Amino acid sequence: MAQFIAAIDQGTTSTRFMIFDRGGVEIGRSQIEHRQILPAAGLVEHDAREIWENVRKTIDAALSGAGLVASDLAAIGIANQRETTVIWERATGEPVAPAIVWQDTRTAPQLAGLDADLLRERTGLPPATYFSATKARWLLDNVAGLRERAERGEVLFGTMDSWLIWNLTGGLHLTDVTNASRTQLMNLATLDWDPVLLDIFAIPRAMLPEIRSSAEVYGTADGLGVPIAAAIGDQQAALFGQTCFEPGDAKCTYGTGNFVLLNTGTTPVRSTHGLLTTVAYRFGDQPPVFALEGSVAASGSAIQWLRDQLGILESASDSETLAGQVEDTAGVYFVPAFSGLFAPYWRPDARAAIVGLSRYHTAAHLTRAALEAICYQTRDVVVAMAQDSGTELDCLQVDGGVTANALCMQLQADILGVPVSRPAVAETTALGAAYAAGLAVGFWTSLDELRANRHEDRRWQPAWTAERRTEGTTRWRKAIDRTLDWA
Ligand code: G3P
Repeated sequence: MAQFIAAIDQGTTSTRFMIFDRGGVEIGRSQIEHRQILPAAGLVEHDAREIWENVRKTIDAALSGAGLVASDLAAIGIANQRETTVIWERATGEPVAPAIVWQDTRTAPQLAGLDADLLRERTGLPPATYFSATKARWLLDNVAGLRERAERGEVLFGTMDSWLIWNLTGGLHLTDVTNASRTQLMNLATLDWDPVLLDIFAIPRAMLPEIRSSAEVYGTADGLGVPIAAAIGDQQAALFGQTCFEPGDAKCTYGTGNFVLLNTGTTPVRSTHGLLTTVAYRFGDQPPVFALEGSVAASGSAIQWLRDQLGILESASDSETLAGQVEDTAGVYFVPAFSGLFAPYWRPDARAAIVGLSRYHTAAHLTRAALEAICYQTRDVVVAMAQDSGTELDCLQVDGGVTANALCMQLQADILGVPVSRPAVAETTALGAAYAAGLAVGFWTSLDELRANRHEDRRWQPAWTAERRTEGTTRWRKAIDRTLDWA
């Protein structure tokens, strides 16, 4: 019997293939970054073909690096960047245009006139450029002849999970319910494509994939002979990888953006404070589990911006040393609203701002302000979550790249006023997809087995006084207002 399980983690900036053993311990990995295509302000694209090639390369490299062959894998699960929209030809499998990434704001003009109450009621999501529906519509309206071809079923829509399943299995057109819940075309009550929404966004039904659960055998990977047994949006995968299986369990994943998800059990909780209601996961024909989500568009990408656009950091990890050279930001606040503001504000027209500068300030202050911004944005959504759910968080489980930055995690505990806990396996997104696939094929048989795999690696305790926290959050809110004024 195969001893290992694997996951594709197809994220916004890179693709990983990771192999785990039954204890959830990493056995092998390979990772490749892909190009961020930025043709103009507000536009963010990916080459779906490049991403698929990277998936294949990482599978080969991770297996050979670990001295394994495909038959050592019991199954493969997929976790993926959500919302990013690909349209490809059914006959050739070629994408018809670059994929439009979730951060892209080109569809802002489509938002005027959308019925926010209707959308929230049916999809759990507010009108926003973030979700796939306006992106698909943009492609149908702007690529010559595409709408007619879509109506004839000649071209297919998918988020990254669909695109990868199509390529892995040689032509199955499927998605899972978590990814479908981020298109803004699926009805949360029926868990199916909603004719009213398809009408609103003018999306032909013929181009949409079949919606399946997050954990079941969809098919077999061509050339590998391994079952593809899970697909789950990356943030939901991280929730699962953190073993947040009970209502009230929450986690924050720090990547390009920050994503806080709170498990709300089998009943969807409607947000009145700017959060999303979304599907957390569904196993086979079991009832779906829902989550409240606070999505923050730009957090780790603020550090990347300091590195790539301003050139004040050699590498993202240098941010800890540089920011550590100063005691505080000396009054500087940086709101990285590069793609507008997501939760809880939902202002696509907001733009980033750095406020409070004087000649005294240095790259160290600015970097520290970027780290604080990551943490204040998490706090904003955690506060909204407490208001929506009536439950105060007593500890935040964290994961993702930024958690390697101990200063940032200390600031997170300081700004939130609750402890922050990081698990031993920081790759919880890949782990969550592997867990889902493993449950689907009987590699693991109970959630308790998975819980037993979670070990805390480090915990940060809040150190700021309540006065300092209040002063910081008040000034942060003023900085947020400046980004809205500008809009
Ligand atoms: O909703 C977008 C999210 O899925 C992206 O996550 O980790 O790829 O930045 P990440």
